[in-house]
Amino acid sequence: MKKLMTFTLAAAGAALLSGCAGMNTTASGGSDNPFATESFQSVLKNDFVSKGQATVARLKQTPHQYECSKYAYLGQPMPADLQKKLEQMAADKVVYPKDGQYLGDWKAGLKIAENGKGMQWSDKPGSPNGGNCLACHKMIANDPSQGNIGPELYHYAKLRGNSEAVLKYTWARIYDSQAFNACSYMPPFGAHQILTEQEMKDVMALLMDPNSPVNK
Ligand code: HEC
Repeated sequence: MKKLMTFTLAAAGAALLSGCAGMNTTASGGSDNPFATESFQSVLKNDFVSKGQATVARLKQTPHQYECSKYAYLGQPMPADLQKKLEQMAADKVVYPKDGQYLGDWKAGLKIAENGKGMQWSDKPGSPNGGNCLACHKMIANDPSQGNIGPELYHYAKLRGNSEAVLKYTWARIYDSQAFNACSYMPPFGAHQILTEQEMKDVMALLMDPNSPVNK
């Protein structure tokens, strides 16, 4: 029993860290992906329950999560053509702003970047989600609580400018980072409807506006 618990926690931890909570039962194979085995599936089934809006349906892996878990488990690099295919799949689904305007209000964007709440069982369904950007990125000066899982974004527009190409790239990054890195750890804010189009524009303004603390 103790052994099972240890395995369960370790596996769940690994799944969360790599953004791979669960697996796809219909995926082919199985022996080369620990998440695809029947025993792992039964652990998931027994140990996780739906609560509020956090339902066990979230344990179903996307094709990206499935392939990334598999190659991480095998300790092998993903074949380049598969990686390219997964990135193209994500890139094809990016929805750019309907009105062609990429930028909203940086002050609203800062609140979103600082907010790590949302989509949990204890959150009211439909209430706005945070982006939690600061948990992974250094974006502003003099705040020691920022994380370093992602690259530093401080002085983002100051360093890159605000050309159409930079705007488009940044939007797609936030919409679904897997369009550039099939196994990205960054949450796909647009693709998984974590942020609305307006909230993404506000976060874009935080990165791009010369008056935002990111560029000060
Ligand atoms: C769980 C960690 C995590 C969170 C939360 C996160 N990111 Fe990221 N982000 C990353 C990682 C890791 C990368 C590096 C590239 C990759 O994984 O492909 C990245 C890359 C980026 C890039 C591209 C940087 C470059 O040098 O081109 C941008 C822009 C970005 N993130 C913006 C954001 C914004 C805005 C938010 C909040 C709405 C956010 N990120 C939330 C982890 C995160």
